[in-house]
Amino acid sequence: MSTFKTLDDLPQDLSGQRALVRVDLNLPMAEGRATDLTRVKAVAPTILELSGRGAKVLLLAHFGRPKGERHSTMSLSYVQGAVEEVLDREVMFISEVQGPVVAQSVDILRDGDIGILENTRFWPGEEANDAEFARAIAANGDFYVNDAFSAAHRAHATTEGLAHVLPAYAGRAMEAELKALDAALGNPAPPVAAVVGGAKVSTKLAVLENLSRRVQHLIIGGGMANTFLAANGVDVGKSLCEHDLTGTARTIMDKADEAGCTIHLPYDVVVAKEFAANPPSVRTCNVHEVAADEMILDIGPQATEALGDVLKTCATLVWNGPLGAFEIPPFDTATAALARTAAALTQDGSLTSVAGGGDTVAALAHAGVTDKVTYISTAGGAFLEWMEGKELPGVAALSA
Ligand code: 3PG
Repeated sequence: MSTFKTLDDLPQDLSGQRALVRVDLNLPMAEGRATDLTRVKAVAPTILELSGRGAKVLLLAHFGRPKGERHSTMSLSYVQGAVEEVLDREVMFISEVQGPVVAQSVDILRDGDIGILENTRFWPGEEANDAEFARAIAANGDFYVNDAFSAAHRAHATTEGLAHVLPAYAGRAMEAELKALDAALGNPAPPVAAVVGGAKVSTKLAVLENLSRRVQHLIIGGGMANTFLAANGVDVGKSLCEHDLTGTARTIMDKADEAGCTIHLPYDVVVAKEFAANPPSVRTCNVHEVAADEMILDIGPQATEALGDVLKTCATLVWNGPLGAFEIPPFDTATAALARTAAALTQDGSLTSVAGGGDTVAALAHAGVTDKVTYISTAGGAFLEWMEGKELPGVAALSA
């Protein structure tokens, strides 16, 4: 793992110091209120530690995609209440991100106080990663902490540029994330299994190509498994399938074979004629018995058991994407069953299990195993780019 500084490399007493802390407060909202506080909870330890050590903590974050202009609906003042609730502290909202308004507000803050600066994406310099913009923000800070892994795939002024202007440190959430990801794919204990699910091969081509070179077992589920089955000559009926990508799927299977990676596709599946909860037409069959008017909506019980046996032989698991249409019963069965097997093996100490990506987090929560796997990343795009083997600019800048 590349080396980076953490909060342990800062002096214990930070009184009189101004910390510019990049966090991800891009929270899901409904009717002006945050509906999920997971991202705030993730960065709370860093904020409270810096505050406890006496620093004035200035939070930097984006919210939505305002494209370099002020939009009243995307002001970070909307998440101020959510941050106060999680931290159980009063937090000052500052309507700028640079300049005299910020300087004056910072003067008002006492050591240990916390402020949130306005949405960084209201300024075009953020996404342009403009060095002058980064320097203007840096003028109100003494050091920079990046605790936003989920935005680290963006080379923006506050996710990347600031690390070149101020002494830079990884926050506690970033540190935990990088350690977990390193244990899962950077320097994993072999054998390694990867579960890749989701609707379409086209969105995860780079992930599949990278993993097939790096893991010993690649378990493919969800709609994308249908494209691989079709590439093997299976008639998948009216299942979701990218028929134009069967050639690509074939190439991935050939390359995996050369690299010594076993690709696991289901040999029994759960099918139905309509995509609805517990439809009357639901049945389990061999993949070669899918009728022309049926859709594959989950992996079958025999395949699920066989996949569980594969996990029992592995030391590391990395998981992205559900195996079936898990949001509708009974098509959540295989995902939940395999998640429970992974959780049990993790609890026994034989498996290091790391999962990430929006649907995956929801699927593991649905299976009731959120606290029983080694690490769950709440990052979406950043987790996928990491699975693609890409260097994330926000992480690279911390390691420079
Ligand atoms: C996210 O919500 O995944 C991150 O905050 C990144 O947001 P973005 O896709 O708008 O850059």
